[in-house]
Amino acid sequence: MYRFLRPLLFRLGPERAHAVTLRAAEMLQGAAHSFVESRYKFEDERLKQRLWGHTFPNPVGLAAGADKNARAVPFWEALGFGFVEVGSVSARPAEGNPRPRAFRLPEDQALINRLGLNNDGAEAVADRLSQNRSAYSRPLGINLAKTHDPDIMGDAALEDFRTSFQALVSEADYVTLNVSCPNTPDGGTFEDPEALDRLLRMVAEEQKVPGLAVPVLVKLSPPTSDQVLFDTRLEEILAVAEARDVDGFIATNTTSDRQGLGTPPDRLGEIGEGGLSGPPLEARSTRLVRYLYQATAGDIPIIGVGGIRDADSAYAKIRAGASLVQLYTALVYEGPALVRRIKQGLVQRLSEDGYASVGGAVGADV
Ligand SMILES: Cc1cc2nc3c(=O)[nH]c(=O)nc-3n(C[C@H](O)[C@H](O)[C@H](O)COP(=O)(O)O)c2cc1C
Repeated sequence: MYRFLRPLLFRLGPERAHAVTLRAAEMLQGAAHSFVESRYKFEDERLKQRLWGHTFPNPVGLAAGADKNARAVPFWEALGFGFVEVGSVSARPAEGNPRPRAFRLPEDQALINRLGLNNDGAEAVADRLSQNRSAYSRPLGINLAKTHDPDIMGDAALEDFRTSFQALVSEADYVTLNVSCPNTPDGGTFEDPEALDRLLRMVAEEQKVPGLAVPVLVKLSPPTSDQVLFDTRLEEILAVAEARDVDGFIATNTTSDRQGLGTPPDRLGEIGEGGLSGPPLEARSTRLVRYLYQATAGDIPIIGVGGIRDADSAYAKIRAGASLVQLYTALVYEGPALVRRIKQGLVQRLSEDGYASVGGAVGADV
């Protein structure tokens, strides 16, 4: 069906198409929920894992950015995602950057966006989630970012994170600290090792309150190229994360880099700045997954994200060390049946390679 829908959606600008899709998702998750669920259903015991005290029915999740304001969590579950990450949410509501700010690159099956952390704010998203809690059952991640406002810096930035953490923690099965947004001048503030240390100490403090302990993951930027991975900064970040007992990593966010694209340079010039997602990001995000898995001896679970568009790209991330994977851009190009196709393909690959379950394949290439 997406064969017919896609050309219609692609006639709209990417942000408009996304708004229409989200609106449809909201409508479908009510009356048509069981229809959607039965249409896209595929379950297999071999895809199940337990992580951070939660059961993930399959390792394929929806990445942050697709449902920033948690409007359609039951719909994403009905499509077959094993978990959903909403956000980024910030303490205060934010409009983001001026439009246009999202662009398709069909030649590369990629997207560029500079939305700039537009969202309804922590309180509104917390209200929406608490009202809908009974309508979904799979693990829910909430991705937090600093409010898009360059005046919020230093201690104020830390307090901004504290506010959103306090507002949302009770709704989350895990919390992601998005310290790697390339779309605001200050979005990467906390990827600085010292600042990250302060942020993680603040989060640890908050978790001492009974009932507010939650797994905390850090979402990182991709390496700056496919070939070169490491700067000493990454090692410092890792040392801080390990010292502060981070529960997991998400690798990776989008990239500002434009190497190796099929999209003509003049088109890239017209588009301007923004985070690139989709297949051009795949190799470098997998590379970071592998590095993190090696560096932590597989002790800290990793969510691999970047360019996943079929079972092979998902399986490559898993074999590089990802316990779970996420996707967003491929959903735009491939449509909703993609999730089921990836799960079916993963089961086939696990059985060809002789793994009893997906957990056995995690890090197999490392
Ligand atoms: C339009 C768009 C908006 C995004 N917004 C966020 C966001 O708010 N927070 C975040 O952590 N990542 C955000 N991302 C990044 C994705 O979560 C993901 O890390 C990245 O797109 C790579 O995955 P993909 O190649 O499957 O899209 C966004 C991505 C896109 C395409």
